[in-house]
Amino acid sequence: MPGMQIGIDLGSSCITAYAAGKGIVLHEANAISFDTFSGEAVAVGNEAMAMTDRTPSSLRLCRPMQAGVISDFSIQCEILRRMLDRVCKGAVLRPNLIISVPSDLTKLEQRTILDAAIACGAARVSLIPGPVAAAFGAGISIEEPHGVLVVDIGAGTTDIAVMTMGTVAYCKSLPLAGDDFDKDIVRYLRRTAGVEIGLPTAKRLKHQIGCVSAREEEFEAAANGKDTLRQMPLQCAVTSTQICEALKEDAEKIADAVLSVLEEVPPELFADLCDSGLTLCGGSSKLYGLDTVLHEKLRLSVKVAPDGEHCAAKGAGYALRQMKQLEDHGLQFRVRERGIG
Ligand SMILES: Nc1ncnc2c1ncn2[C@@H]1O[C@H](COP(=O)(O)OP(=O)(O)OP(=O)(O)O)[C@@H](O)[C@H]1O
Ligand SMILES: [Mg+2]
Repeated sequence: MPGMQIGIDLGSSCITAYAAGKGIVLHEANAISFDTFSGEAVAVGNEAMAMTDRTPSSLRLCRPMQAGVISDFSIQCEILRRMLDRVCKGAVLRPNLIISVPSDLTKLEQRTILDAAIACGAARVSLIPGPVAAAFGAGISIEEPHGVLVVDIGAGTTDIAVMTMGTVAYCKSLPLAGDDFDKDIVRYLRRTAGVEIGLPTAKRLKHQIGCVSAREEEFEAAANGKDTLRQMPLQCAVTSTQICEALKEDAEKIADAVLSVLEEVPPELFADLCDSGLTLCGGSSKLYGLDTVLHEKLRLSVKVAPDGEHCAAKGAGYALRQMKQLEDHGLQFRVRERGIG
C-alpha cells in the first residue's frame, strides 16, 4: 500500500494540503513565531498568526513568503516539516508529495525545497508551477492545443497565466493582491475618517463587506481603532461603498496587468481565450465585484472557481494522481526520490 499522496501549496498567507481520498487536510497561515531569547519555535500556522499586531517583544513572527517570493528558505522548510508532521501523524509509510511553487524559482531554490521535503520524511517529492496547479484545481485542462487564461489572486501576488499544450505560454506575477487590499482599507480610513485601524481589522472588513464594484444593497460593519487626532479609542461604522472606494484603484491595476499579458498573446491563442474566457481563483477571487471589473476591462467572460483558495493544493493533488498521463502530454515535473540524486 503506498503512503499518503499529498498536494501542497506554499502561499504568501497560507500553506494548504490536499490528500488523495481525504480532501483538504490543512489550510493554515504560512507563519511561525520564535522566542527571541532562546530562538525556539513557539507556535506555527494560525496560532502564530493570531499573534500579529499583538506580538510581544519576546516573540518574533516570521512569514517566510512575501509577495509570492520565498524570502527565507530555512524557515519555510521548518514550517513545511511541522505541517507535514501534523498531516501525516500516525501514518506508517512515507508520503509522496507534490508542491506547488512560484513559477520563477531558480534551479537552486527548487533543489532547496526538494531537499527539505525529503529531509521532512517524504519518499518522493515533485514540484509543479503554481499557475498549472491552480488551473487543474479550477477544473481546467491545459493539455489540449487550446489556450486558457487563469488569474490566481492570492494574498501577496496576482499570477496571470495563459496556458496551452501543457505549458505556461505567457505569464506575469504582479506583487499586488489581498494583503494590499488590507493596506488600502487602513490608508483610506486614516485619510477619510481620521481613524487608525490594524491590518487584521481591515482584513475582517474586507471579508465581511468588501467589494470592488457597487453591491445591490449597501452593507455596514463596525471597526474599532484609534482617533488619529486625539489618540483616543474610536469605534466607527464603515460602509461597503467606502471599502469599494478604498479598493477600486488596486482592482483596476490587476485588470490592467491582465490586459498587458493579453497584449502579448498572438491572435490564434487570443481567439481561444475569447472562447474559453478567464478563470479567477485564489482567496481574493472571493472579493465581490472583481469578476465584474475584469469583465468590463477585458470583455472576456469571467468564471470564479469554487473554493478559490484551495485550487492550487487541489490541482497539485490531481497532478500527482495523473502524473504519468500528464507527462505523456508533455508536462514536466521536477522530481526527487529518497536515496536517489
Ligand atoms: N471572502 C473574501 N473576500 C475577500 N478576500 C478574501 C476572502 N477570503 C479570503 N480572501 C483573501 O484571500 C487571500 C488569501 O488567498 P490565498 O490563500 O489564495 O493566498 P496565498 O496562496 O496564501 O497567497 P499567494 O498566492 O499570493 O502567495 C487573503 O488576502 C484573504 O484576505
Ligand atoms: Mg496562492
